[in-house]
Amino acid sequence: MAASSRLLALLAVIVGLYIASTFELPIVPAVRQNAVAVYSAVRQALNPKPAKEQSSQAVFPSSDSTHGSEVAGAQEGSQAVFTSSSSARAAYTRHIVAVGDLHGDYGNAQKVLEFSGVVDSAGNWTGDVDFFVQTGDIIDRGDDTIKLFMWMESLRVQAAKTGGVVLSHLGNHEVMNQIGDWRYVYPSEIETFGSVAARQKMLSTGRIGRAWAQNYTATSRLPLHPHLGPPNTPFPPPLHFQKDDSEEDENSRFYEPNEPLSHSALSFVHGGLSPTFSNLSPFPTKINALSSSLLAKLQNRPQPLPHPPHQYPGLPQGTTREEVELYDANGPFWYRGWATDNEEKACADVEKVLARTGTRRMIMGHTPDFTGIVSRCDGKIIIIDTGISHAYGGALSALSIHYTFTPVDSEEGEHRWIEREVVSALYVDRQETIVDQERELVGDFRFDEVL
Ligand SMILES: *[C@@H]1O[C@H](CO)[C@@H](O)[C@H](O)[C@H]1NC(C)=O
Ligand SMILES: *[C@@H]1O[C@H](CO)[C@@H](O)[C@H](O)[C@H]1NC(C)=O
Repeated sequence: MAASSRLLALLAVIVGLYIASTFELPIVPAVRQNAVAVYSAVRQALNPKPAKEQSSQAVFPSSDSTHGSEVAGAQEGSQAVFTSSSSARAAYTRHIVAVGDLHGDYGNAQKVLEFSGVVDSAGNWTGDVDFFVQTGDIIDRGDDTIKLFMWMESLRVQAAKTGGVVLSHLGNHEVMNQIGDWRYVYPSEIETFGSVAARQKMLSTGRIGRAWAQNYTATSRLPLHPHLGPPNTPFPPPLHFQKDDSEEDENSRFYEPNEPLSHSALSFVHGGLSPTFSNLSPFPTKINALSSSLLAKLQNRPQPLPHPPHQYPGLPQGTTREEVELYDANGPFWYRGWATDNEEKACADVEKVLARTGTRRMIMGHTPDFTGIVSRCDGKIIIIDTGISHAYGGALSALSIHYTFTPVDSEEGEHRWIEREVVSALYVDRQETIVDQERELVGDFRFDEVL
């Protein structure tokens, strides 16, 4: 009798959470705390991963099969939750795909997004990935500017319907075009807009310019575990309390710099996060605020005649010193140090940036290697510009990250987990593992935010 009523109560929670997640109703915090672990089990049960894995197995028969069994193991772990009500601990998985510079080539972009499982053969969102990240430079050196930007917006809407997220970044080329630096614009591409004036309009106050303003950022911080909050949760948190603080503000989040999950996140940017850039922190909030304000100034000024043949218009009147720094060679749109510095310097510097940005690795485009994705310092620096566009004829590539957080047998009252991160470079005909790291953590990790 007691057992069956407990089962009924659990069922009610599950149904309630399902309804809340489907119709995006806010979940009451108290319920959330008790039920979050159950939530992920429910999400997995409703949205089983093995089915998704099968589709990617077809593309990568050899190495994805290991991942398939790993996920299947995670499933079993989460199902245990339904029978044990005392300690509801569920496995959690997150699959991220990131793609670098696309430079006006829709055909090659479609190939890359398709073999990485982001879209189907018709270019529609598959629902097989949780996050698709593009690190900027969609424009220039090709004719498909309009098609590519409109496609990204439609993927964003499609993704949201399956609980997925598209994270888009501005590259130096998007900003150059906004400034009026049109050195890399193909005349045939201008024709796709109709005229220079029509192109200026669409990139400033028109469809593409508005998409940049609303849906693109200069950089992002993507937590691997939802315990850290949704994408772009700032680090360090603006309102936070530490263990000894007696006051607990209802809006503040617990923050412990040595907390085991605190750096379980990735950063994405077009050029690079320089160790000497003065506005790294709080990350990514400060950089993105500067980028938004610079973009607004560029979009709202009377559009200058483009260079060439006209003179380089430069940044608008009223650009602040911090905004000038944002766009200079040491800023996130242009920095190349992570590609060009020697090993010793890069591997020492990267630790400083990871510490300040609350991340474990940095992923960026901008500096192409036509042979493939570059991983440095044990995968802490990953450069994903492989010259995908036919303008370069480089390798068609995507970066894939499979994150799993699995409960393991625990001592009484102690929650143990295995956190695993598998980072791979995907190509048309092969895939290479860049990082396969696992560590054991102890703690009661709640999902503060449910995506
Ligand atoms: C996606 O699917 C719809 C039909 O549901 C179709 O009209 C559309 O052309 C497809 N492709 C893209 C890129 O949206
Ligand atoms: C920005 O993305 C949202 C979906 O998240 C979409 O509804 C909106 O139309 C996009 N904005 C523009 C200007 O395309």
